[in-house]
Amino acid sequence: MKSSHTHTVTSTPSQTLLCVLFTVLLALCFLGTSVAQTLARPNWAGSGLTTEPWWKHAVFYEIYPRSFQDTNGDGIGDLAGITQHLDYLQSLGIDAIWLTPIYPSPQVDFGYDVSDYTAIDPQYGTMDDFDHLVQEASRRHIRILMDMVLNHTSDQHPWFKESAASRTNPKRDWYIWRDGITGPDGKPTPPNNWQSTFGHSAWQFDHRTDQFYYHYFYPQQPDLNWRNPAVKAAMFDAVRFWLNRGVAGFRLDAITTLFESQDLKDAPVLPGNNNFGDPNTDQSLQNNLPEVHDVMRGLRKVVDSAPGQRVLIGEIYTEKPQDLVKWYGARHDELQLPMDTQLGFIDKLDAAVFRAKLTDAQTLLAGNTPLFVFDNHDRPRSWDRYGDGVHNAAIARIIATIQLASQSAGILYYGQELGMVTTPPTRKEDVKDPIGIVGWPLDKGRDGERTPMQWSRTANAGFTTSATPWLPVRVTRANADVNVESEQADPHSLLNWYRQLIELRREHASLLTGTQTMLDHDSQNVLVWVRRSKTVSRRNQPIVIVCNLSAQPVTLSLTQDMLRLGLRGTFLRTLLHADEAMAPQDLNAVTLPPFGVYLGELQR
Ligand code: GLC
Ligand code: CA
Repeated sequence: MKSSHTHTVTSTPSQTLLCVLFTVLLALCFLGTSVAQTLARPNWAGSGLTTEPWWKHAVFYEIYPRSFQDTNGDGIGDLAGITQHLDYLQSLGIDAIWLTPIYPSPQVDFGYDVSDYTAIDPQYGTMDDFDHLVQEASRRHIRILMDMVLNHTSDQHPWFKESAASRTNPKRDWYIWRDGITGPDGKPTPPNNWQSTFGHSAWQFDHRTDQFYYHYFYPQQPDLNWRNPAVKAAMFDAVRFWLNRGVAGFRLDAITTLFESQDLKDAPVLPGNNNFGDPNTDQSLQNNLPEVHDVMRGLRKVVDSAPGQRVLIGEIYTEKPQDLVKWYGARHDELQLPMDTQLGFIDKLDAAVFRAKLTDAQTLLAGNTPLFVFDNHDRPRSWDRYGDGVHNAAIARIIATIQLASQSAGILYYGQELGMVTTPPTRKEDVKDPIGIVGWPLDKGRDGERTPMQWSRTANAGFTTSATPWLPVRVTRANADVNVESEQADPHSLLNWYRQLIELRREHASLLTGTQTMLDHDSQNVLVWVRRSKTVSRRNQPIVIVCNLSAQPVTLSLTQDMLRLGLRGTFLRTLLHADEAMAPQDLNAVTLPPFGVYLGELQR
């Protein structure tokens, strides 16, 4: 006993060394977890006005990293460029950034062809650059969301390379391989008439194993087989990897296309040809299959298991709210925010349509939060889709207001806040997006909405020091002042309109969390709505928003409307008014110039 006791208090030099080593190891482990924890639980303050989950009221900001800011002079934007502009994004007032894919990729579809889901493409930087971005963003209360491409990988992904190597490869069934049909000339033809949404047959023949593989997008983007549990497990692991690195959630790419019908029946042929010269087909055997909802529920569990209210946003295109509502899940257990493009992609400035869509979003989404999208990297910019060529600046303010003053979460696309224009290539040889090459000239591809962010009046708008940015910065004389530097200095700029709208949203509970009532039910030209918070107080009054969607000035009385809603007031205290003085408006005669926008607080 005694000797053993003595033994424990006196130790040999080798034991001391072991002990020191152990302590150092322990300290390292501790440091390791605490670094991981700070990343996994970044500094994400919510709004002081609500205890509801942050994403319900958030303003997201989509960055196409290739086109945001180049810092190493190669003409391609990078992660360090995004970090460099975080102060700008903070001053704009956004809550979170969605980064389109930054994983290693052959860049056929500019990142949407992923060859490694848990690394960073060297073109954009390193994993350290990524961690630094997450930390610096978090210091400014900005969250980072990744783009998760679940439907397909790159054909250069090791999984596909293995899968393509032989019919017996263990990964063969990770993708969708099928025999073709032998044509009259003895050559194999695709198993059915399914079309790729990016043009021509969705089946690509591979000579190595004499079978076709399925691709809903480019041939370089083979579809994964989501009926194989190993695929799901591998993808969920990738999701966990980024959750542990501190991302606040994901935008799920092309999520409606995960499953396709197994019996390979031909798609019904529809009248007419598409932009690629092929017959139009009904895509319901390739899109929106019910199986996808099981995957969504599983994914939501994974995301919910991480601390800090992570969020799933989905790329959904639906025409009916009844289809959109399914994506939230019957028990609110799928996506928190499937994208709602029903409003943003109408491409028509029609008050009746906006009113109907805004009402639908209130009444038909089972109490879920709509996420209105007007701009993204796949569509010409709303500036051009809604503008009439004369009043575009005023119309852009209306769009911003519909998006940010309605009861919804919002998502902006870089440059939307500046009024950047769509500048499609004028010559086929300049096209970068393969769609534009296959579809030229009917479809010029998506380069036009992906041109570099315009920061300043300097060469290449401050995007790069290179003489040849990956896409040209086409700053015309007409939009020479469309850049951050010029617009920050101009109190009437679109940028300042966006900034003020977001600020109002953050300051007024009525705007941030309040209910929404559409008014003026018959007018084609005027869109009016009221936002009211549950707790009305002197400092928290109902807010009235009026948009004149016509080229004529309008004057309207809102007195009867307010009476009907049981709201007492005689005038509106101006919160924001495009072009005009900030004088209060008499409720009996609210007056707006052509394409004017007005936000005012009801006062007695
Ligand atoms: C989504 C992306 C688009 C991409 C496609 C294939 O639609 O937004 O840019 O090309 O999916 O991944
Ligand atoms: Ca698929």
